[in-house]
Amino acid sequence: MTGDKSFVLKGDICYSEDRNLLRTVEQGYLVCLEGKSEGVFKELPEQFVNLPLTDCGDQMIIPGLIDLHIHAPQFSFRGLHMDLELLDWLNTNTFPEEARYKDLDYAKKAYQIFADAMKKSGTTRACIFATIHGPATEVLMDIMEETGLKTMVGKVNMDRNSPEYYCENSAAESARDTEAWLEHVMLKYTNVSPILTPRFIPSCTDELMERLSGIQKKYRIPVQSHLSENLSEVEWVKGLCPASRFYGDAYDQFGMFGGKVKTVMAHCVYSSKTEIGLMKERGVFIAHCPQSNINLASGVAPVRTYLEQEMNIGLGTDVAGGSGESIFRAMVDAISASKLRWRLLDESLKPVTVEEAFYMGTLGGGAFFGKVGSFLKGYEFDALILDDSSLPHPQALSLKERLERFIYLSDDRHIKGKFTEGSRIF
Ligand code: GUN
Ligand code: FE
Repeated sequence: MTGDKSFVLKGDICYSEDRNLLRTVEQGYLVCLEGKSEGVFKELPEQFVNLPLTDCGDQMIIPGLIDLHIHAPQFSFRGLHMDLELLDWLNTNTFPEEARYKDLDYAKKAYQIFADAMKKSGTTRACIFATIHGPATEVLMDIMEETGLKTMVGKVNMDRNSPEYYCENSAAESARDTEAWLEHVMLKYTNVSPILTPRFIPSCTDELMERLSGIQKKYRIPVQSHLSENLSEVEWVKGLCPASRFYGDAYDQFGMFGGKVKTVMAHCVYSSKTEIGLMKERGVFIAHCPQSNINLASGVAPVRTYLEQEMNIGLGTDVAGGSGESIFRAMVDAISASKLRWRLLDESLKPVTVEEAFYMGTLGGGAFFGKVGSFLKGYEFDALILDDSSLPHPQALSLKERLERFIYLSDDRHIKGKFTEGSRIF
């Protein structure tokens, strides 16, 4: 019952039990046994008294944060060039930068900067888009493996409607490169695993989708993509896929829309009732990326609808649509965006609460990775230690208030410790 991954942390503990229930335990004991949580206790149970105990004092202990959608090659231009909408932004800024990653020296340099930032952040798990280049995607996976974070990384597929300098030559070539990449990386890592990544319907021919569906069945890996993000994009998909009843149907036709195939779709700002119905039925995960949706003037997703329907939903930064990697910031943006939506667009959909935002950034998104995102017994032990001692307040705040303030201040410099599956990252 000992070993590196069995220990106790004592401190001010906060975690979600479900979307409405934020549990706070002051000076509680959080027990990690062989990398899994045994739960949170007010008094340390007898059977754990011999485990090594770290007293975190008045620091807060929360589950690791989950980023369900981020583009590693776009990290280099985060915070730049935000004055365009999605389709122009892709052509003007995104594709030229992603094309650079063909050069492995550039990829190593840029991906190391990304990985260093991710390591320091509050994120313990992430679903990551790379580029169309298999070898550079493997470089990213090698670098992410070293961080100790648990990530899924995808080589991007795109064989149409893309500039000549950043487009795969054919569906056959795209599929061949994807299989070659998978053969290299499938069993290579402890912390990183591959995820199938058709960029979005406009950039993938039916033939490519058909081939990717075959690859998905062969390797049984999850799928990530984009869905119903922007009005021009949604109109474009209608024209490209006249046989599809709605955008999501164009993925579903090829068996890449949930059910047995674990699927995460970013955005879902303009999902129709039927699209929402199928996502719910199939357990498709929604990566809500509020800052990206604001920066690219895409809109605001109806998060209240998704929460009330008990759908699978977590948060994404969508760097470089989003300007930074902080999931605390994504929580605040989810709340703020929902308030504007409520006030300006639809007063029937109440704003997101802080408990719900915290839930989405931990347990909601964590479910994509299994039993992740909470300290309930049996969950993978991913945790952060947060120090708010340099943020004094003239009154004694409750633990929930301290957490809320920490989220709103969104300053990763106050993260003092980070664990994934019981291993200390820093
Ligand atoms: N849709 C297709 N590609 C992208 C991308 O790189 N970012 C965002 N936000 N949406 C996309
Ligand atoms: Fe994206």
